Amino acid sequence: MKKTILTLAIISLITVSCGDKKKEDTSKEPQSVTELTVEDGKALFTSKTCATCHQPDVKLIGPSIKDINKIYIENNASIASFLKGELSPIVDTDPGQVAIMKANLDSFVKDLTDAELKAIEKYMHTIQ
Ligand code: HEC
Repeated sequence: MKKTILTLAIISLITVSCGDKKKEDTSKEPQSVTELTVEDGKALFTSKTCATCHQPDVKLIGPSIKDINKIYIENNASIASFLKGELSPIVDTDPGQVAIMKANLDSFVKDLTDAELKAIEKYMHTIQ
């Protein structure tokens, strides 16, 4: 009798711990599926005001998206890394120009997530 109770206790313990594990796994799932699309990147590029300074073809306040792409591809560099402040500017290194873009990096760009920055980069690369 004692043995049966012990066995039951062990079985229920195993069931409980397995149940816990399952719960943990499903709660992690939504976080791993955070990749955003080119469309998301395009929407962010407009809503986060990038488009006011960066046009596809012509230099406005900042370099055109095509010019940025060309230099980033040539240098095998990541736009997302630049936006995170991990890379120094390579497109326009004029101090006055750099300061304008740096002001963005230090303010609202800081609040964008890695997934959002990657989506922006993905969108920018579609403009050839
Ligand atoms: C107020 C105008 C302005 C806004 C808004 C702006 N930029 Fe810029 N950006 C600039 C200027 C000026 C430069 C040139 C200086 C430089 O290259 O760092 C630049 C440069 C860049 C570069 C090239 C950096 C390099 O390596 O030289 C990238 C990439 C870039 N901007 C992306 C963005 C994105 C993405 C956004 C929106 C989140 C944005 N910019 C918003 C003005 C702006």
